[in-house]
Amino acid sequence: MKVFVTGGTGYIGSHTVVELIENGYEVVILDNFSNSKPEVLDYIYKITGVKPKFYEGDCCDKEILRKIFKENEIDSVIHFAGFKAVGESVQVPLKYYRNNLVSTISLCEVMNEFNCKNIVFSSSATVYGDPKELPLKEQMELGKTTNPYGTTKAYIERILSDLSFSDKEWKVILLRYFNPVGAHSSGLIGENPNGTPNNLMPYIMKVAIGELPYLNIFGDDYDTKDGTGVRDYIHVVDLAKGHLKALEHLEDVEGVKIYNLGTGVGYSVLEMVKTFEEVNNVKVPYKIAPRREGDVASCYADSSLALKELGWKAKLGLEEMVSSSYKFILGQKK
Ligand code: WQD
Repeated sequence: MKVFVTGGTGYIGSHTVVELIENGYEVVILDNFSNSKPEVLDYIYKITGVKPKFYEGDCCDKEILRKIFKENEIDSVIHFAGFKAVGESVQVPLKYYRNNLVSTISLCEVMNEFNCKNIVFSSSATVYGDPKELPLKEQMELGKTTNPYGTTKAYIERILSDLSFSDKEWKVILLRYFNPVGAHSSGLIGENPNGTPNNLMPYIMKVAIGELPYLNIFGDDYDTKDGTGVRDYIHVVDLAKGHLKALEHLEDVEGVKIYNLGTGVGYSVLEMVKTFEEVNNVKVPYKIAPRREGDVASCYADSSLALKELGWKAKLGLEEMVSSSYKFILGQKK
């Protein structure tokens, strides 16, 4: 089975490629390294003993997409490629709308040309907007997204749903990620964003290795267990395994299926900091700062549908999330 993975050298993409290869899939990757590094391909080889077929290029470029489909018998596509920094998306919305929407539309048009109509899409819990009730369930009405990044995810869900409605041969699975953290046990691949991290875990990691002086905790006056924001953190390897399960079930899908990929457990920022410190025996200095625009107090998943229909459930706990993150960033420091 040959799977085309867009954005396959990225954080979640690379972990999913490892799981695919280790489960016998043949993988073809397209990436433009806009938020990843070429050496990730070497790390995938070191971990799996296989160097997946790789094309460097942009998912908006229909010529390279055609070349890939001409040169490879693609059975299914997993579409990760896209910009994903919430804060940046507020600053440069057109960059996000163009890249994330045009890449998806170009990909689907070329898939149509080659009669490949099986796709798993990397969506996000941000499509729910500010939760009206918790835990979040797939059939809930979507709220108003709070940033252009989240809006592109909601628009792409709609594009793929309309496509599937127009042509019943399309099989679509939308995976709504909660908060991906952690790294592969080898310590070779993980999340190391270019520049100052937006997300909590990469920021904690850089503070822990002394690259940043302290963490700003955005608000300790939320209506939560300790006043700091609560999120559903999920280990990236569990997330990768969720894609494998989705792929295995794709051919049985009628139209569009949506699944939350979370643990169902919410941890606060302070709990993340304390657990990181205790498990890794390292200090993470922090200061309480004002709330961040667009943040919600709490957000966590009901992932029972993924268990019921895909046979998937997150297995890795908070300790593995923080220890694998620290092991990875220490390895990056060398
Ligand atoms: C988590 C908590 C912050 C940084 C975003 C996207 C989502 C997904 C994951 C892609 C919040 C607090 C954070 C910091 C802090 N990405 N925080 N200091 O905003 O829940 O979700 O990333 O799919 O789509 O929306 O993640 O890690 O930025 O924040 O106190 O320096 O940590 O306030 O409570 P978020 P996050």
